[in-house]
Amino acid sequence: MKLRDTHNRIAKYLRIGITDRCNLRCRYCMPAVGIDFAHRDDILSYEEIIRLSKIFACLGVDKVRLTGGEPFVRKDIAVLLRSLSDVFSKVHITTNATLLSGHFELLKEIKVEGLNISIDSLDRDRFFMITRRDSYDIVMENILKCLENKIPAKLNIVVMKGVNDMELLDFVRFGIQHNIEVRFIEAMPFNDDDGNRNVYMPATEIAALIAGEFQSLHKLNADGSSSDKYTIDGNYTLGIIPAYSRSLCSSCDRIRLTPQGELLNCLYAQTGTSLLSMVRGDKVTDNDIQQAIIDSVLLKKKSGFEEEALINKDAFRSMTTIGG
Ligand code: 5AD
Ligand code: SF4
Repeated sequence: MKLRDTHNRIAKYLRIGITDRCNLRCRYCMPAVGIDFAHRDDILSYEEIIRLSKIFACLGVDKVRLTGGEPFVRKDIAVLLRSLSDVFSKVHITTNATLLSGHFELLKEIKVEGLNISIDSLDRDRFFMITRRDSYDIVMENILKCLENKIPAKLNIVVMKGVNDMELLDFVRFGIQHNIEVRFIEAMPFNDDDGNRNVYMPATEIAALIAGEFQSLHKLNADGSSSDKYTIDGNYTLGIIPAYSRSLCSSCDRIRLTPQGELLNCLYAQTGTSLLSMVRGDKVTDNDIQQAIIDSVLLKKKSGFEEEALINKDAFRSMTTIGG
């Protein structure tokens, strides 16, 4: 069985936000204080996540990504990761890498297919300014440990004009030096005081800036992933993610499960189907849930622009509630 939408795309990749909590406070993601985190009882338990995951797997989903918030702030994540690696052939995690230290053996054991590590500056002070926490050293240490342990990792950089755009070339050099893919992400106008509007730098401008220094920069054909892929000198690959310009929606294979158990079709979708109320329902069978998922995916809009048009602009939203 497959999760086909009405625009002939097949959802095969489930992103699960397992918590809305985080130990950093990145300015583009969260305000410094006054965040209303979800109550524990209102988020999916591990048992509930596993039950839902098996249903998604029956529907053809073969790749899962844990996101947050910061996934590693959730207790006993090893239990969840071991179970998920039995259900899905491809397990990925998006993390800020601050809490990876005790988990390298686990990551090898479950054969994690990829870690996307968020790091928005290679400068300690600027890292602190962006994340509001002094975690640069541990993040860098853990990135290097991933490389040592041969854990497949990529670096995610949210590009902000006037904040860290002067470091883009340094990031590319760092990536080449350590042979680790860097991926530049357009800052999306969610949350934060000014909604990131003043710092937005389009993917085209990011590519032009890199091409100015690395003349061999060459754009590869679309591969169905969420980033545009480029090579330098034919052998180093980097990515640019048009998260805001949304030029890759036509090949989107992603759906999202929020910590509160809502199934969303898009990063820009505000409402979806509550699977939490279903898994907690008395007489709800796996078949009922399966049908609800199929129906939900059928509502997926053609693009993130169409989803955004439906958003209630007054609602405060953060990546921590929709999972990066
Ligand atoms: N724009 C772009 N990316 C964002 N992320 C969080 N908030 C935003 C935003 N407003 C990214 C982080 C991380 C993942 C959790 O989501 O960089 O890679
Ligand atoms: Fe935490 Fe990631 Fe948000 Fe930063 S961007 S505050 S690391 S969830």
